[in-house]
Formats: sequence, structure tokens, C-alpha cells
Amino acid sequence: MSDWKQNLQKTRYVMDALLLVSFMIVSAPQATGVPLHEWLSLLFIVPFAIHLLLHWDWITHSFKRLFSKISAKERFNTVWNYLLYLMMLLATVSGFLVSVALLPTLQIDINIQDFWSKVHHDSATLIMPMIGIHLALHWNWIVQLTKRMVSKKA
Ligand code: HEM
Ligand code: HEM
Repeated sequence: MSDWKQNLQKTRYVMDALLLVSFMIVSAPQATGVPLHEWLSLLFIVPFAIHLLLHWDWITHSFKRLFSKISAKERFNTVWNYLLYLMMLLATVSGFLVSVALLPTLQIDINIQDFWSKVHHDSATLIMPMIGIHLALHWNWIVQLTKRMVSKKA
């Protein structure tokens, strides 16, 4: 593999690990407290955006590929990524709509509605197993890269 491709894979690996840790922290408002949860969720947009940018090539080609001859696994993975994106969007937008710390600090007044609390609770709860399946679909890559990273260090 060329140096450039190898470096990209390593960057993805490190950023994926960071993303997973940030996701776990953001998913535990009981541990951080709600105000910190809100600020950390805002910050979480950065590693998430980096994750998407590091796969920009895949994103620009994925929709077209859906209409060509691809394996059932690739088709499922593509649809799953789209669903994940929608769920993440829903969790983030509903999060802002139930904000009790971040928006008031920025002097933005909102009227919190039960509906959005429920949407936030449900979308955030659904994302966890969805990410689990996302990781399972990339399990071979995770194992391969982990082996490569560990053997390089040794
Ligand atoms: C905690 C959150 C997440 C983690 C730990 C994670 C991890 C991974 C891993 C390990 C891969 C494969 C290796 C790689 O090329 O980097 C990957 C690929 C990808 N992920 Fe995520 N991911 C997360 C969330 C998301 C979300 C919410 C989306 C929403 C769209 C997403 C979209 C993608 C895309 C488009 C790819 C590349 C295409 C593919 O091979 O499926 N990821 N992710
Ligand atoms: C990916 C983004 C996010 C995830 C995964 C997430 C996850 C969670 C989880 C798991 C809960 C506990 C829900 C419950 O047990 O009812 C929660 C509660 C909460 N989150 Fe988030 N959150 C995210 C983004 C945000 C954002 C951006 C804000 C606001 C700026 C926010 C504000 C809140 C508030 C105020 C609560 C407590 C009140 C309630 O559940 O209605 N969240 N979040």
C-alpha cells in the first residue's frame, strides 16, 4: 500500500478511536451532568465532522453505487450509514431544542416541549445499538488496523 494510503488509514483509525470515546462521554449525561453534556455535545460535532470528511470520497459515490451491482452487505451498510446520519441529526437538533444550559447562556430563549424531550431520549437511545452495528459492519477493518498499529509499535 502507498505511504499516502497507509497514513490515511492510520489517521482514520486514531480519529475513529477518538470519536468512539467522545461518543461514549456524550451518551452519559448522568455521569457528566446535563450542562456539561450540552457543551460536550456541541464539541462532539468536530470529531463527527472529521469522520465524515475522512470518508468524503465514499459519501460522494455511495448514492450512485446503490443503483449498480453491489453486494447485499454493501447495500445494507450504505443504507445504515444514511440512517445513522439522520438519527445523529435528530439527536443533535432535538438536543438543542431541549437545552437548559447552553442556549440560555447564549441568551437564546426557547420553550421546551415534551415532544422534543421524547425525540431526544428516543433518538439518543437508538443511536447506541446503531453505532454497535456500524462497528460490527467494519469489524474486519478494526481488527486488521489494530494488528497493524500494535505490530508497528512493537
Ligand atoms: C461513535 C461513532 C462512530 C464510530 C466509532 C465510527 C467508526 C467507524 C469505523 C471504524 C469505520 C470504518 C473504518 C474507517 O474507514 O474509518 C467507519 C466508516 C464510516 N462511518 Fe463511522 N463511526 C461512527 C459514527 C458514524 C456516523 C454517525 C456516521 C453517519 C453517517 C458514520 C459514517 C461513516 C461512513 C460514511 C464511513 C465510511 C463508509 C463505510 O465504509 O461504511 N459513522 N466508521
Ligand atoms: C449526538 C448528540 C447527543 C447524544 C448522543 C445525546 C445523548 C443524550 C442522552 C442519552 C440523554 C439522556 C436521555 C434520557 O435518559 O432521557 C440526553 C439528555 C439530554 N441532552 Fe443530549 N445528546 C446529544 C446532544 C445534545 C445536545 C446538542 C444538547 C443541547 C445543546 C443536549 C441536551 C440534552 C439535555 C438538556 C438532556 C436532559 C433532558 C432531556 O433528556 O430531555 N443533548 N442526551
